[in-house]
Amino acid sequence: MPLDLQRIAAQCPGNPIHYFARIDSTMREAAQLAHDGAPHGTVVLADEQTAGIGRLGRTWHSEPETGIYCSLLLRLPLPPDQLPVVTLLLGLAAAGSIQNVTNFRCDLRWPNDVLIRERKIAGILAQVNEGCVVAGIGINVNQTQLPADFRTAATSLFIESGGKLQSREAILSAFLAQVDSFVSLLGASGPDAILRAFSEASSYVNGRRVTVEETGQKGTTGGLDANGFLLVRSDSGKIERVASGGIRPEV
Ligand code: BTN
Repeated sequence: MPLDLQRIAAQCPGNPIHYFARIDSTMREAAQLAHDGAPHGTVVLADEQTAGIGRLGRTWHSEPETGIYCSLLLRLPLPPDQLPVVTLLLGLAAAGSIQNVTNFRCDLRWPNDVLIRERKIAGILAQVNEGCVVAGIGINVNQTQLPADFRTAATSLFIESGGKLQSREAILSAFLAQVDSFVSLLGASGPDAILRAFSEASSYVNGRRVTVEETGQKGTTGGLDANGFLLVRSDSGKIERVASGGIRPEV
């Protein structure tokens, strides 16, 4: 069934919504809207993407009418070095919305993989276009199966709940509300509040054995730095600041 746009609009009155039954990628459309001056809170939403974009040049599987495929414009008065904090904030909002609606507790794998039982349930992609953050979120909601990926196993809320259909509208509305409240927290209390919340919500920030994707370095995670980058201590004691890419559980 297509998304119920009236329900979403009623629950998210502050978010202008641009809906597409089918689009190549909501990121491309959102970047164009950002260029055209669309306001903070603008949402591009699709029921299907034919060329969904993932992080690091990967593709995002976007089966029709099953997942949430959304890009959100955030016009925040932020210095460029705070973009990583915004990425972490989006992960917190995704995990919070899934938890509020479905009761599933999610883990966060730095920088922004949302996991249930170590399987990816949602992914986030944040880009900056002419000073506007374009935040892309994909949530696996009602897929009955997902393509195998050699890097990370994926799952959906339908699979995790043993075959219960979940409301994409409720999760999307909860996500947009959570983004609002974390943006307010960032404004009122600064990046430290987001870094603390992320460190509390993620089992990966401290004391996890990981492999850094980009360098292959293995080590133990040792917290976030002031800009939201992950610190990893190698067995020789050297501390690496992971500024791009991601981490995997050590194999
Ligand atoms: C990741 O690789 O984990 C990030 C995935 C982000 C996917 C979303 S789906 C909506 C938006 N449009 C896209 O083309 N990508 C993002």
